[in-house]
Parts: sequence; structure tokens; C-alpha cells
Amino acid sequence: MPTASFQGTLRPFVMPIVILGGLGILFLTILYKMPATWLVSQLRFEEPAPMVKEHSQTIILIWMWPFGNAFALSSCSALFNIDGCYLTADRNMYSKSDGVIFHHRDIHLDLSNMPNSQRPPFQKWVWMNLESPTNSKKESNLKGLFNVTLNYRRDADIPLHYGTIVQAEGNNFKIPSKNKLVCWIVSNWNSSQIRVAYYNVLKQYINIDVYGKAFGKPVSSQDFDATIGSCKFYLSFENSIHKDYITEKLYNPLSVGTVPIVLGPSRQNYEKFVPGDAFIHVEDFFSPKELAEHILFLDKNEDMYQRYFYWRRHLEAKLTSLFIRGACLTCNYIRTHYMEHKAANNLDTWYWE
Ligand SMILES: *[C@@H]1O[C@H](CO)[C@@H](O)[C@H](O)[C@H]1NC(C)=O
Ligand SMILES: *[C@@H]1O[C@H](CO)[C@@H](O)[C@H](O)[C@H]1NC(C)=O
Repeated sequence: MPTASFQGTLRPFVMPIVILGGLGILFLTILYKMPATWLVSQLRFEEPAPMVKEHSQTIILIWMWPFGNAFALSSCSALFNIDGCYLTADRNMYSKSDGVIFHHRDIHLDLSNMPNSQRPPFQKWVWMNLESPTNSKKESNLKGLFNVTLNYRRDADIPLHYGTIVQAEGNNFKIPSKNKLVCWIVSNWNSSQIRVAYYNVLKQYINIDVYGKAFGKPVSSQDFDATIGSCKFYLSFENSIHKDYITEKLYNPLSVGTVPIVLGPSRQNYEKFVPGDAFIHVEDFFSPKELAEHILFLDKNEDMYQRYFYWRRHLEAKLTSLFIRGACLTCNYIRTHYMEHKAANNLDTWYWE
């Protein structure tokens, strides 16, 4: 009979299973009665990886000075409340550095000025670039070199913006006195830029006071703020148009008390950074002519003009000391992502496409 023979083949296994099962229950009962501390001491837990580097300083090495210009390696703690950072430009510190910052524009095409010693396993390489893709050479040999990005884009690993809007300290803002309507300071002239085309049409309808190298009228750094402050409006025209590429051209007039007229990414994009009623966007108007008419109207209506400063009752604009802030934000990032391995392998597509 098939059934009997089936039971017959199983029989030799039944006793061992019963015995093992019994032993198992006994063992579990003993474990259950044991004090919990004993049980814990018998299990070997994997130590959770500490995500924040503690007990020692985070060393950030500035491998090359941006555009060859040294900046003061001031205290991140005093400036930005970021503790535990050691910033250095001493390449002898390479093997101990937790993060190394490389400035895109200064990297040689053949990588001859990059480190040639082994990269320590804990070390992250930081790709720093604050120029727009139009003004940044795309280097395919940078592929697979970096771990994190330091950039003006909001979706960079370490976002670094040209300015910030902060709560106003005190409430003593006054619009500086004005003796010009629209001003523009521009150093690099390139006739294929959109801003140049826009300016060429706008100036047919309204007087624009122009300064800067491009017009043979350079403005010294001492006169810079006062010059912008003496104008009711300032052309905050970016040299190229890219998402989040919003530079000091916006924050300069905002900080001195002049209304920026912006040309750059969309109004929506600007409003991610600054209050929507703090600026005029060229796209608010169908044409440069209509923008000019609006400016002339505001020139005659002081109340309407002053509405562009309502935001100053509670807020103010501050320009960023870009490179020192970038170094300190890098330190903060590396401290808080200490055991995380990461590669910025898609630089080409993320940034240039
Ligand atoms: C001028 O701008 C165009 C487009 O943005 C760019 O392709 C070109 O390289 C620029 N020329 C100079 C001399 O910068
Ligand atoms: C940094 O990136 C390199 C290249 O992609 C990679 O080999 C390395 O493991 C990364 N290191 C860290 C600490 O993330």
C-alpha cells in the first residue's frame, strides 16, 4: 500500500524532530526567564555607524584658491555657528583632510594640478562652481572624480547662494535719496547675450545711466553701493539664463535700497529666493516698451514706488561671502554625512544638460 510505505519512510524522522522541538522549547523557556541584561550581553550588536563626526575637527582643504585669489580662512564657528571645522590651504594636510574643495574654473584640462597621491577612503572631493553652465567649460574627464557638488543650484549637495534674505535687525530702513531713474553697471559685454538685446530696445524708451568696464566707466568698490543706491531702479540682468542662477546682480540693489529689474530665470524661480514684491521681472511685461512705461509711471507715483520696499519692514537682503561660506557649509555637510559614501558621477548631465 502506498500510504503505509509513505508512513514507513517518515517514521525514522519523527523521534528526532520531537526531541529537537522539546529541547528548543526548553531553551527558549530558559532564555525567557533570564534577566534581560544577560540576554543583551550574549548578543553582539553591530555598532551603528556614527553619522556625525565627533571628538575631532573636520579638516577641509582648499586645494586651489578660486580664480587664484586667496580668501581669509576665518572661523566657521564665529561666522556661521558651525563648530569643529579646521580650514586650511596647506596641501601637506591632504592625507588627513576629510574634504577637499576644487574650484572648477581652476582645474587644468589634463588634471595636472589635481592631487596625485592616493585618496584616503574617508575623504570626499568637492566640486565647487558658482558660474553658470554657459560660462563653465564642460570637462568630460572630470567624470567620476567627485563626491559632492557645491553650487548655486538648490539641488546641489551643498547649495550656496549669492545672497540671503534674513529677518531685519531693527526697523530703521529708509529708501536712500535718488537722483537717477534706471542704472546698470556691466563689465563683460557680449552682443550675443539676451540682456544686451533687451537693453538695446529698452534704452530707446527710457534713459539708462550705464557704468562699468563695458562702457569705459568703471566703478570703484567704494563707490559701488552709493552708485546703485542713487538710482530708483537697477538692471539686475544675468549674463546667461539658467535655473537658480541668481547672482549678486539681484542682491546688490536689494541690500542698498534700489528696486531690481530682473532678467534671468522665471519669476517663479526668483520667488524661491526673495519676496515676490521686492523686484520687477522683465517677463511681467509684454515688451521692453511696456516695462519702460511702467517705470515712468512709478517715477511719478511715489506711493506706488514705495510698495516695492514693504518687505523691508521685516526683512533685509545680505550678500554672501561666497568662498568662506562655501568652505564652512562644506565642513558642515561633511560632518553630518560622515560615514556616507557618495559619488557625483552625473555631473555632465546634472549640470550641463
Ligand atoms: C558670448 O556669448 C555666447 C552665448 O552666450 C557664447 O557662446 C560666447 O562664447 C560668448 N563670447 C565670449 C567672448 O564670451
Ligand atoms: C568618492 O568618490 C570616489 C569616486 O567616485 C569613490 O571611489 C569613493 O569611494 C568616494 N568616497 C566617499 C568617501 O564617498
